[in-house]
Amino acid sequence: MTTPGNISRKFTRLYIAALSAVAFLSVLGQVLVQRTLHNQLNDSGMINYAGRQRFLSQQIVKNVLLLTAPGVTPAGPVYLRELRQGLDVWEKHHQALRHDQAGVLGFSVANRDSTRRLFARLEPHFRAIRGRARDVMARAGAGKAASPAGVDHRDLLAHERTFLSLMDRIVSQYDQAARARVHRLRRIELLLLGFTLLVLAAEGLLVFRPAVGKLRDTIAQLLTAETKATHMNEELLVLNQSLKEAKEELLATANQKHLQQMSEQKVRAAYLIEGQEEERKRLARELHDGLGQMLTALKLGIENMGAHGTFSEKGQKLLAELKTLIGQTIGETRVISFNLMPAVLSDFGIASALKLLTSQTSNNTGRNVTFRTNFNGARLPKNIEIGMYRIAQEGIHNALKYAQADRIAVELVTKKKYIHLVIADNGKGFQYGKEAENGVAHLGINNMQERSHMINGSMKIDSRPGEGTRIHIRVPVTYLENEQNHSVISG
Ligand SMILES: Nc1ncnc2c1ncn2[C@@H]1O[C@H](COP(=O)(O)OP(=O)(O)OP(=O)(O)O)[C@@H](O)[C@H]1O
Ligand SMILES: [Mg+2]
Repeated sequence: MTTPGNISRKFTRLYIAALSAVAFLSVLGQVLVQRTLHNQLNDSGMINYAGRQRFLSQQIVKNVLLLTAPGVTPAGPVYLRELRQGLDVWEKHHQALRHDQAGVLGFSVANRDSTRRLFARLEPHFRAIRGRARDVMARAGAGKAASPAGVDHRDLLAHERTFLSLMDRIVSQYDQAARARVHRLRRIELLLLGFTLLVLAAEGLLVFRPAVGKLRDTIAQLLTAETKATHMNEELLVLNQSLKEAKEELLATANQKHLQQMSEQKVRAAYLIEGQEEERKRLARELHDGLGQMLTALKLGIENMGAHGTFSEKGQKLLAELKTLIGQTIGETRVISFNLMPAVLSDFGIASALKLLTSQTSNNTGRNVTFRTNFNGARLPKNIEIGMYRIAQEGIHNALKYAQADRIAVELVTKKKYIHLVIADNGKGFQYGKEAENGVAHLGINNMQERSHMINGSMKIDSRPGEGTRIHIRVPVTYLENEQNHSVISG
């Protein structure tokens, strides 16, 4: 499979191979140049020495000729010394050049076959000149005068000529060999240059071109990917926005549903309470009109029986007791009927009903129960009047039952657009919240809360052990005129 990793590995391998080839060719070129330079040094040394041999041969022949010239030469010892020295060097260098003795000349000599042949041809002439020179030196060493007859000058000069001409050819061969080497090096260098260019061209074709192509493709892909990413991002943003909107819609729907449920619940509770109140009213009426009337008739009957009948003293006493009992039953029935639904509430409104409730409670219990109001007798909607009355009933009832208070104060005050109902006692107080958690079902305070909610009001309880209790209900109301020109407050 072609992955980006594989491609880059392949290019790297090719690139390294091409670089290695170029490096190898450069090193090879350098090695060849160095070798050729070295050889060139040898060649120039050989040419130099070969040229010097020509000069020395001429010097030797000249000295031989001078030493064997007719007449005494005053400079004879000088010639002889020069001859000896020259011959010595000439001979040594000749052997070195001919037999490739590198140690003597300080560089290596590489004679070709043709040069060897020339040296072979040169040899007799070399020996002839050397022989003549040695003879002359031997004679001079023995103190004999050199005899012109001992040396054939013509023959010596002929040897010298041939020697010089052959030496010329040897020098020329050395020179040719040197030139050939330089030419060869030049050719090789050109070849290497060609190879290097070939490798570079191959590198361009096989590495750089495809690599640039791949790079271009990759950049194009990157650009496409970037464009796609931007589009996707935009789509995501749109999606996100619609999700947000959907979420908000859902929340709004849930809220609405919750509110609807709440109001449905409120309506249901209101219906329930209204039904309850209706039932209480019916019961109160039945008690008052039915049982109450019957009890009154019974009481009258017993009174009649006492007036018209003849009873013993004991019978008279029993009748009197029965009359008292029936009177008490009538009173109890009235209290129950009043508590179920006081007629004063529906007839005269909340202020009058609370006034009666507090004064009756005060009378019945002997406690100090007061009522204060700034209310001018205006009527409130029925549900608010009943709700507030029931709350006050439960508050007073709790204060009597738990607070052991000697003073209970009830207030009904209108202020701005609110009506405030306050039930306060100076009793023992309690920790609101904790009382409700002790496992016993306490419905009173809960019902007070619910009733105040149902009339759109709020309830606050301030109570601490030892500091009394203050229950405050605040209900918003709007005043309207009713048909009898009474102030009407509606919730
Ligand atoms: N004015 C008060 N002073 C002292 N304690 C009170 C007062 N009102 C309520 N409490 C305490 O709070 C508790 C809860 O009262 P709540 O009216 O809810 O229930 P309850 O009167 O015990 O029962 P229910 O009203 O259902 O017959 C009471 O049991 C009582 O301990
Ligand atoms: Mg209670």
